[in-house]
Amino acid sequence: MLNLAVCVSGGGTNLQAIIDAIDGGSITNTRITAVISNNAGAYALERAKSRGIEAACISPKQFGSREEFNQAFLEKLDSYQPDLVVLAGFLVVLPEMMIKKYKDRIINIHPSLIPSFCGKGYYGLKVHEGALKRGVKVTGATVHFVDEGTDTGPILLQQPVAVEPGDTPETLQRRVMEQAEWKILPKAIDLIANGKVRVEGGKALVSE
Ligand code: GRF
Repeated sequence: MLNLAVCVSGGGTNLQAIIDAIDGGSITNTRITAVISNNAGAYALERAKSRGIEAACISPKQFGSREEFNQAFLEKLDSYQPDLVVLAGFLVVLPEMMIKKYKDRIINIHPSLIPSFCGKGYYGLKVHEGALKRGVKVTGATVHFVDEGTDTGPILLQQPVAVEPGDTPETLQRRVMEQAEWKILPKAIDLIANGKVRVEGGKALVSE
C-alpha cells in the first residue's frame, strides 16, 4: 500500500481528482495518509476533512524565519512516513533538505508541457498567460519528479491540450485542468503505486 502525503495551497481540485480516483478504483494500492497545507484558508483542507482524511496546516506565519518554517514542515511531513509526496498546487519552494530526503519520492503537477512555460515565475495563471502571449496552439500539463531545480526533474507523464480561439488565461487554465491535470496526476500515482515507474539516469521510465 502506497502512503501518500498530498501538499496543497489552494482549491484542491487536483486533490479531489486523486480522492475520486482512489474511490473509483482507477488508483489502486494507495491511501492518502495526510493532506498538508501552508495556507490555513486552503479549501483543499476542507475537502480532506470532509472525507475523514488527516488535514494539517503548517504556515510560515507561525514562525519567525523561513528556516524554522521549513524545519517544522519537514517534521510534520516525516511524522506521516509517506512513501510518496504529491505536490498538488503547492506554492512553496521546497527546501533542499526535503528534496534530498525524499529523492525520487516527490512528484509535482505543472500546467504546461515542460520545458515550455515553466521555471521561476511560471505558476498559476502566469503559465497560461505565457502560453497565450506566445501564441502556441498546443499546451498541456506535466507530472514530473521534483529535483533541486524549478520544474527540472524527470518527466513522468504529459498530456497535450489544444488552445482555442478566444481563450483567456482562465478558460485555458480550466481546460488544462479538466483535460490533462485531473487525468495524469491520478494516473502517475497509480503507476508508481503499482511499481511501474523507475528513475534512471535522470529520466523517469514507465512500463505499462
Ligand atoms: C493547478 O493548475 C496546478 O497545476 C497548479 O496550481 C493549480 C492547483 O489547482 N500548480 P488545485 O488547487 O488543485 O485546484
